[in-house]
Amino acid sequence: MAEGNKSTLKGDQNNKWTLNGMTALVTGGARGIGHAIVEELLKLGASVHTCDRDETELDESLRRWKAHGHSVTTTALDDEHRARIIDEIPLRRIGKPEEISSAVAFLCMPAASYITGQTLFVDGGFTL
Ligand SMILES: NC(=O)c1ccc[n+]([C@@H]2O[C@H](COP(=O)([O-])OP(=O)(O)OC[C@H]3O[C@@H](n4cnc5c(N)ncnc54)[C@H](O)[C@@H]3O)[C@@H](O)[C@H]2O)c1
Repeated sequence: MAEGNKSTLKGDQNNKWTLNGMTALVTGGARGIGHAIVEELLKLGASVHTCDRDETELDESLRRWKAHGHSVTTTALDDEHRARIIDEIPLRRIGKPEEISSAVAFLCMPAASYITGQTLFVDGGFTL
């Protein structure tokens, strides 16, 4: 584990701005740059969701982040687990980023102004 992973996670008292109320998604948060970005965003007050292939290291980080009172959730997904999930998706593939973002963009548009309180599943039929 990199030395940087052992930071104290103390907030910077001199920060003139925060990310309170914001949510960030960070990939590869168990180690290295992804891990450092998670910690930086948490220190600034953001809620963070992070994923990684390394479940052991990710769980270890999650325990530490929670112990510091941070708002963080994780998803561990190794290649074997990924293949099992794809088998359960009717479209037999993982969604592309643009397939998710286009649904998000639509819900942000005036064209969606009369849609309230709905949950739109963009998951290739996984939840059917
Ligand atoms: N370290 C550097 O100086 C540096 C410089 C420029 C670019 N980069 C690039 O930045 C990225 C991260 O570098 P790093 O040094 O932090 O690497 P790292 O190996 O220390 O950390 C990468 C993390 O991402 C996870 N990961 C990799 N593929 C994944 C996947 N498909 N799904 C989920 N998790 C995944 C790994 O399990 C690991 O925890 C790499 O692409 C690297 O090439 C690194």
